[in-house]
Amino acid sequence: MSHSQHQLGIIGGGVMAESIVSCLISKGVCQPAQIQVSDISRDRLHHLITQYQIQGMDDNLAVASSSQVLLLAIKPQLFTEIATQLQPAIRTDQLVISILAGVPLARLEAAFGGCPVVRVMPNTPAIVGAGISAITVGIYVNEQHLALVQRLFNAVGEVVTIPESLMDAVTGLSGSGPAFVALILEALTDGGVAVGLPRSLASQLALQTLWGTATLVRETGIHPAQLKDQVTSPGGTTIAGVAALEQAGLRSALMRAVQAAYQRSQELGQI
Ligand SMILES: NC(=O)c1ccc[n+]([C@@H]2O[C@H](COP(=O)([O-])OP(=O)(O)OC[C@H]3O[C@@H](n4cnc5c(N)ncnc54)[C@H](OP(=O)(O)O)[C@@H]3O)[C@@H](O)[C@H]2O)c1
Repeated sequence: MSHSQHQLGIIGGGVMAESIVSCLISKGVCQPAQIQVSDISRDRLHHLITQYQIQGMDDNLAVASSSQVLLLAIKPQLFTEIATQLQPAIRTDQLVISILAGVPLARLEAAFGGCPVVRVMPNTPAIVGAGISAITVGIYVNEQHLALVQRLFNAVGEVVTIPESLMDAVTGLSGSGPAFVALILEALTDGGVAVGLPRSLASQLALQTLWGTATLVRETGIHPAQLKDQVTSPGGTTIAGVAALEQAGLRSALMRAVQAAYQRSQELGQI
């Protein structure tokens, strides 16, 4: 956005909004003066203004009316209330971006009639710029809008464009996935402690092993099954561990976790 006059308005200055603001500024995608945020909490506003030198006010309507790009980052339960409140400020030349989990494009387009609307599902590693955001676009979105949204969300990690029908599946994998991976990390650390490692050392070994394996797969393109075959020597230590994991059903547990999160996302979307 730095080469244009686009003004980004953010409604709701919580955790996800702050991650996005922080990365947009640190990566030079936006200048602080291009960003304004509104939040109900004065403390949050004070924090965001002093930390990032952006503009902030407790006036959703004022932020919405002076923005070309409007990012909705409030909790999903507040959507109907906020959409009604914003309606007088919305113009069809504005681009509306929603990161609200479970609010479909149809509801967004009904609330912001005639506006180009983009629905985005980021995930928590966005906080450190290592997220992955799935984007799905409404009927009024053109290529420039899409390119702009991709540029904004590239600041917090990777971006994939998907049909909306896959949004619940994405939520089940990359949306909920950080919690699943956190459990694996914690369990590997506990395993290390169980065999006598000090916790801080076990934690370092587990984290670097997870990170290193992911980086190896990413950089070489090796199939995970091939990697597993390479490190399991006959009668060795690793195959003993793999056998224990298979007996405990690790792979089926992880598959079921994604399926359960997907189903829950579908249920929540129907409420
Ligand atoms: N966190 C994630 O990993 C993640 C991932 C994907 C999608 N999302 C979506 O991102 C959205 C925001 O999530 P979050 O984790 O950033 O939530 P959050 O930290 O609770 O942020 C929401 C912010 O909006 C403020 N707010 C409440 N009422 C408001 C109002 N009437 N007008 C303006 N601001 C108001 C809240 O203030 P108070 O705290 O004072 O109420 C809070 O600062 C959610 O819709 C969520 O579904 C989050």
